[in-house]
Amino acid sequence: MNSAKLILDNKEYELPVIVGSEGEVGIDITQLRGKSGAITLDSGYGNTGSCESAITFIDGEKGILHYRGYPIEALARQSNFTEVAYLLINDKLPSKTELDNFNYSLTHHSLIREDMKKFFEGYPPSAHPMGILAAMISSLSAYYSQKDDMDLNIIRLIAKIKTLAAFAYKKLIGQPYIYPRNDLSYAADFLNMMYAVPSEKYEVPKVLEDALDLLLILHADHEQNCSTSTVRMVGSSEANLFAAISAGVGALWGKLHGGANQAVLEMLEKIQKDGGNYKKYMDMAKDKNSGFKLMGFGHRVYKNFDPRATILKEACDKVLSELGITDPLLDIAKNLERIALEDNYFVERKLYPNVDFYSGIIYRAMKIPTEMFTVMFALGRLPGWIAHWKEMRSNLQSRINRPRQIYTGNVNQKYVPIESR
Ligand code: ACO
Repeated sequence: MNSAKLILDNKEYELPVIVGSEGEVGIDITQLRGKSGAITLDSGYGNTGSCESAITFIDGEKGILHYRGYPIEALARQSNFTEVAYLLINDKLPSKTELDNFNYSLTHHSLIREDMKKFFEGYPPSAHPMGILAAMISSLSAYYSQKDDMDLNIIRLIAKIKTLAAFAYKKLIGQPYIYPRNDLSYAADFLNMMYAVPSEKYEVPKVLEDALDLLLILHADHEQNCSTSTVRMVGSSEANLFAAISAGVGALWGKLHGGANQAVLEMLEKIQKDGGNYKKYMDMAKDKNSGFKLMGFGHRVYKNFDPRATILKEACDKVLSELGITDPLLDIAKNLERIALEDNYFVERKLYPNVDFYSGIIYRAMKIPTEMFTVMFALGRLPGWIAHWKEMRSNLQSRINRPRQIYTGNVNQKYVPIESR
């Protein structure tokens, strides 16, 4: 199969077919408008490939997710977050020396410039940490130039994002900032900056460090989702790395994307306050006029199961039992999950719990405040965003992203000056 035929207005057009390394088929329509005057229309881009990419493969029907050809299950079980970040960005697993050097760089670039602390001071305590994070990442461009070595800026960003995120949290709760420590792993250092206070000795519990490392791995990339496409879109104009990633943080914030983990917990709290009547909310989710959706259910791509959710469900049970947590919200979550998996409405539409459903529950068990949930997602997704930005910038053929549209507005309007209207 190397071409497809399109008949439009009785004329036949031959379109090249691109086949990916896992057998995915795409019809290349880049020349279609030039030849026929027509464009393709696909609102929400559900059926549109925006690029060729060698980073992540997803088969939504079979519930498959691979980073650089490695199954997510193997990476979740045997790897760790910084190794996965290296893999995504450099397209190979590191040797022991390469990983040691990478980790050394990530710790030795984790401080932020002292004057950046003043930026945090300017925010009201009610500021959402995602807004602060987006602004801080963009602000890094004031200190580190696009003319600097690209790999060094990438290291700086991965190293500093956890400091920025933890400082945003300390701002939220009004505590003094805790500085990064070079003797801790990436996940442990972040948790230490979140939970340590200057007056007490604090050691990050291993169960929390492991749970966070797993969460970061599972969120590290997911091909052309809303935030990654945003990073590529902004990067396509040759905007700098920090500007492109900051835009990705903005896209992730929304509750239909990364903000869903926060929305899941808010939904569970709402159901609890309303007497715990989860059946009422199941009925509302099925009623199109209610405007209510079951947060943490459904996915644009996964129509069988989300492999990340399968891994997280297991981790969730482990974390809760190791921490000895009983929580009425978790009972509501389990009931919603059980009913949704049996209910025809959800089964027919293939609406399964997604990664955000379980991640929200684990974050709550880790005592991470709800407003920080999406920030945690951003920390995990950063290597994926960077890998896509780098892939696009290294491709000399890539062009500025500029979709077309079908205009449906007024035509032939005659301008009437304001005094005559
Ligand atoms: N609750 C109730 N009904 C739902 C839900 C839900 N969570 N999700 C989808 N549906 C219904 C839709 O109303 C639609 O019904 P219809 O066919 O009768 O009209 C059908 O299922 C198909 O859904 P779409 O909205 O067309 O699916 P789409 O691919 O556009 O949206 C999305 C996917 C945004 C994830 C959606 O399922 C949703 O809003 N889920 C809740 C938010 C959420 O959890 N987002 C996190 C996604 S994962 C991530 O970003 C990491």
